[in-house]
Amino acid sequence: MFKTDIVIIGSGIAALSVANALCGNGKKVTIITKGKKSSSNSSLAQGGIAVALSENDNFNMHYDDTLEAGCYQNNSESVMTLVSKAPEVIKEFIKSGMKFDTDEKGNLLFGKEGAHHISRIIHAGGDRTGLKVMEELFSQINKNVIINEDEMVLELRVKGNECGGVITRGKDGRINCYEANHTILATGGIGQLYPCTSNDITITGDGLAMAYRAGLPISSPEFVQFHPTMLNINGKTMGLVSEAVRGDGGILINQDGIRIMEGKHPLKDLAPRDIVSRVVYDHYLKGDKIYLDISHIENFKERFPYVSEICDKNGVDLNKNIIPVRPGAHFHMGGIKAEPNGKTEINGLYVVGEAACTGVHGANRLASNSLLEGLVFGKLTAENIIDSDRRVLHFDDEFSEAGVGVLPLKREIQSKMMEFIGIVRYKNKIPEIIKWFEKYIPKGTDKPFGKINFNKIDNERMEIYNMLTAGYLIANAAFDRSESIGAHYIIDKE
Ligand code: SIN
Repeated sequence: MFKTDIVIIGSGIAALSVANALCGNGKKVTIITKGKKSSSNSSLAQGGIAVALSENDNFNMHYDDTLEAGCYQNNSESVMTLVSKAPEVIKEFIKSGMKFDTDEKGNLLFGKEGAHHISRIIHAGGDRTGLKVMEELFSQINKNVIINEDEMVLELRVKGNECGGVITRGKDGRINCYEANHTILATGGIGQLYPCTSNDITITGDGLAMAYRAGLPISSPEFVQFHPTMLNINGKTMGLVSEAVRGDGGILINQDGIRIMEGKHPLKDLAPRDIVSRVVYDHYLKGDKIYLDISHIENFKERFPYVSEICDKNGVDLNKNIIPVRPGAHFHMGGIKAEPNGKTEINGLYVVGEAACTGVHGANRLASNSLLEGLVFGKLTAENIIDSDRRVLHFDDEFSEAGVGVLPLKREIQSKMMEFIGIVRYKNKIPEIIKWFEKYIPKGTDKPFGKINFNKIDNERMEIYNMLTAGYLIANAAFDRSESIGAHYIIDKE
């Protein structure tokens, strides 16, 4: 049994934001991550951080844009908390050493992305914002933080309404038990449930599945955001082409050079992501080739070093000024029900970042609000814990004996998800995928895809079980919501 004040599952921006604030307060923090500490969506994030810091901006305008992009399905209090606290949190971050891109006078540079009515996105290292932010956060962490890599959390230790830590499989293959006063899920979203995604390979819906098994409610899981412009090499997505490219003048065209967003939305190429994704996907299904025309962008390689690097690596000649693109799964607006300060219905268990659904993103997340969410709600979660004197009482774990049968391959789940609950969903076809998932429900669990005997399966199969769980929950929620809204776009018949 390992004892720690706080155990954090995941190593992205939300996890580190909590860890940083807590370790400065002398708390002993243990971060457990399934891959390497750098394996997170945050490290891959190109687009920046939306914050109302420019002269012509204020947080009410940021609030309005967030609600409009979210199709007014947002929790307005969560949105107000995010946008109103953002300027102070970012100023503090800069004071602590973070360097965002500035002009020669040292003033922050503000870029534009989809559905923002004003330039309010700050970046670092051009399109390497996520990486730079993560490097800074890792450099700020002190010796009170232990980071255990290559260790997979298998189950939350929950009894009644109390959480007492986690059960893991360490890199030596042994089962470990952690006793913690506070347990924080910061596991990210569900991107790997789809065949084309911007997400890191480790993002398989583990947090969502574990929280569901532990009895927490899952909110609006049907809201899955697709990003319209992933680099498309022979039908495979090879990384993201940031929306900031369109913010700087990039234009979506087809193989004949015709603008595809013309007449589709007043903001054209900078319309909300769900709308742009559907237009691109529609063309893609018709067999059109879709490109980002970058001929209007000056100094593309300096402005977008990361996009240039992945284009180069994949044989895309930027001198031709066009980048082949297609949509891919990007962000989960739904997730484990939580408050902006991480609080859940189980004492001692918190959720933060993309894994959480505070309602802040509604039915479609506004661009560059997610790194911001990690920083702001991470800080609130840490403050919540600092104020708490909770001490977990020792309890004996009860393990399930249920075993899983034959499981599908990850790629089978991915292709089913894309076909049935992707960018477009056909109402009359959703029951088919629900039935498909039901074939894999183990016998002897307290509920569909409930707790199982993890001793009997390896980490790969545990991930598959988690993916099935997340997919099953998304499919059922998609079936229950019969009207199209935001990223949940449903048509009656194929
Ligand atoms: C992007 O760079 O296009 C992604 C930004 C985001 O998802 O917020």
